[in-house]
Amino acid sequence: MKERAITGIQPSGRLHLGNYFGSIKQIIELQDDFPGECFCFIADYHAMTTIKDGKLLKEYTKNLIIDLLALGIDPTKTIIYKQSDVKEVCELMWILSNVTNKGLLERNHTNKEKIDKTVGLFLYPELMAADILGVGASLVPVGKDQLQHIEIVQNIASSFNVIFCETFIIPKAKVNSFQLLPGIDGRKMSKSYNNIIPLFCDDIELDKKIASIKTSSTPKGKSIIAKQEIIYQLYSCLASKKDVIKMEEDFINGILGYFEAKQILKNKIKEYFAPFKEKRKELLLDGDYVNGVTELCGKRVRDEFKITLEKVYKAVGLK
Ligand code: TRP
Repeated sequence: MKERAITGIQPSGRLHLGNYFGSIKQIIELQDDFPGECFCFIADYHAMTTIKDGKLLKEYTKNLIIDLLALGIDPTKTIIYKQSDVKEVCELMWILSNVTNKGLLERNHTNKEKIDKTVGLFLYPELMAADILGVGASLVPVGKDQLQHIEIVQNIASSFNVIFCETFIIPKAKVNSFQLLPGIDGRKMSKSYNNIIPLFCDDIELDKKIASIKTSSTPKGKSIIAKQEIIYQLYSCLASKKDVIKMEEDFINGILGYFEAKQILKNKIKEYFAPFKEKRKELLLDGDYVNGVTELCGKRVRDEFKITLEKVYKAVGLK
């Protein structure tokens, strides 16, 4: 069997620059770099731990699929599907929960931080284990914040293998090295801080966001320390090396002020995302194509899960 990589993305709001440069770009690059098969799914079951509004979850899910396709997920290279189209994942989760030590989940730090005290949130990593082990993935590209979850998954897989028989591949995390992007207020860009720059918004909203980026308060004509500026940090992700160096020098030499720098950043964002925006417009008009892709991929993944489950049934005595 070819090696497999899998990652899930929660549909929890509009995608922003932080999501793109922090993880999505790497996932998209993987489809060309990874020699095996890539799986990418919309983790709508997982999102239920935070979104308790049916309409909203449905909307976010639909938008995320379209956004990912627009940004370059290629369904001929990456199997892109909706988690809830693969019901088998819930069955596998139940089976795995019987080899999972409760203490393992209790020690999970995200559990302690969150206000939500549902069993769903408690079982969050258990469902991740089913996502990953169900397709037999060996590699899981994730952000640093997910490392503890992957350790739990490894633990669950080993327990099963020891208690029953060698069934699951122990997956490894692939942490992207990208630094966290600052939001418009300088804290980590995150929906929960309300400091994001959305990937797909109209020019008026983009103007407003860029205008409200925090800056230091060096007087006009004086040297600005580029590296301390949010404008510069964001620009570094988008622009060519040459352009980034130019901005840095102009800041330091005192010939670039905040206002002009913001215009440069804004134009670069527009230019960078213009082709994706165009693609997204087309996809919005072609609902049949989008639904067709995820349905087909969902079926394919269900077949993979069925194969895994057959082995599991035998091992545990359900068949
Ligand atoms: N927990 C992940 C996140 O919030 C999303 C996710 C769910 C996931 N299941 C997964 C990631 C399986 C990788 C593999 O980012």
